[in-house]
Amino acid sequence: MALLLWLQSQLSSCWSNISVLGVFLTVFTLLFDFMKRRKKWSHYPPGPVSLPFIGTMLYVDFRNPHLSFNQLHKKFGNIFNLQNCWSNLVVLNGYKTVKEALVHRSEDFADRPYFPVYEHLGYGNKSEGRPFDLRFLVNNAVCNVICTTIYGERFDYGDATFKKLLHLFENSLNEEAGFLPQLLNEVPILLRIPGVPQKVFRGQKAFMDFIDVLIDKHMETWNPAHIRDFTDAFLKEMEKGKVAEENGFSYNNLRLVTADLFAAGSETTSTTLQWAFLYMLLHPEIQSKVQAEIDKVIGRERSPTMKDQASMPYTNAVIHEVQRYGDVVPIGLPHMTYRDTKLQGFFIPKGTTIITNLSSVLKDEAVWEKPNEFYPEHFLDANGHFVKPEAFLPFSAGRRACLGEQLARMELFIFFTTLLQKFTFVLPEDQPRPREDGRFALTSSPHPYLVRAVPR
Ligand code: HEM
Repeated sequence: MALLLWLQSQLSSCWSNISVLGVFLTVFTLLFDFMKRRKKWSHYPPGPVSLPFIGTMLYVDFRNPHLSFNQLHKKFGNIFNLQNCWSNLVVLNGYKTVKEALVHRSEDFADRPYFPVYEHLGYGNKSEGRPFDLRFLVNNAVCNVICTTIYGERFDYGDATFKKLLHLFENSLNEEAGFLPQLLNEVPILLRIPGVPQKVFRGQKAFMDFIDVLIDKHMETWNPAHIRDFTDAFLKEMEKGKVAEENGFSYNNLRLVTADLFAAGSETTSTTLQWAFLYMLLHPEIQSKVQAEIDKVIGRERSPTMKDQASMPYTNAVIHEVQRYGDVVPIGLPHMTYRDTKLQGFFIPKGTTIITNLSSVLKDEAVWEKPNEFYPEHFLDANGHFVKPEAFLPFSAGRRACLGEQLARMELFIFFTTLLQKFTFVLPEDQPRPREDGRFALTSSPHPYLVRAVPR
């Protein structure tokens, strides 16, 4: 009996100790979380209420962040703050604000945030009038431009290696969107759970492995006296030894830069072209005007060249309007403040992630006559001459602006005019009118649609 009583008293004291410890741990964790989420600066931008541990993540639909940002923009103004768990983000909206940050305070906003989810990669028939999905052809053509630059060769569309490359690349891009990658960036410890990176980023790993194979093949035929392409030139620099390595010419960087060029240079351009042909389907009268200008300036026989662009203001305006209205990189790429800075009276500390809401610039109601319509006249003056409003920033602006802008412009002009010179794009009779809203996965692309390309 005595033993039982003793056991009971021990148990109850142990239980009360556990309860005290539990209460202590809960209070401590909540306090710690509060301190981490606390914004200690005066004049910090406003934003939605930050919840324990997850911050403001519930306010953002990570599959369509630009739409959430536009709603928050209306509520909190041009500069508002968000919190992904314990990380502070500031979202910039509208032409005036984005320009002030990226151009006038370019250096302050020039850094890029660090993303732990990339660590595992090694960073710190066709037509004949029949309906088809031109996504694959356009994607193949644009990827071949990057392949020519990097590997010095283009692939046939049926080539097994090429098909595999495109397939792996598409899978790896899809893995970037959504809530999970955001969460892993904020709580990188989850990446240490065995098997998690391999499972979540299977596609990216496979894409990088494949790039390794292509580089290895290149090394076998490498001849320093005969530089064929970017990979050859990079390998030649690597040969220079330690100094070159310190300057970034390492094998690991070669594979990462290659992957970057694919990621930055193919999806964006190919998606813009998919929007272009979608708008031509939806606006046949605009398509006819472009074709009339092509016939007048280039004719039907010779291929278009970049020299023609200056004499084709209407076509140029249409391509620019495709980029504005298509809004392919709606929330840009994240920046990070390089030092403490001020923007329109708000204080933004060093190391804050900055989201430039490019969509809010390209559709800024204060700048564009018809922001939510496809209206090429945005880029034409009263005399039909091409004009480019300053708020045209699909490539962003400032020090971190797109490096491939010139290449992208050439690709858009040459592919667009060449195809419209040879074909008229029409909606197949049995097909519903394609959707005009985009699907977001870093870039915003059209929902799949079918076209008929009728030879002219
Ligand atoms: C229509 C096509 C394209 C669009 C709309 C586009 C748009 C963008 C945007 C918005 C950024 C982010 C800039 C910033 O952070 O402020 C960017 C960055 C970048 N783009 Fe493009 N891009 C296109 C084509 C290309 C091409 C063809 C290449 C190269 C082959 C390329 C290479 C890059 C690189 C390397 C960066 C990162 C620059 C840096 O971190 O400093 N882009 N692009």
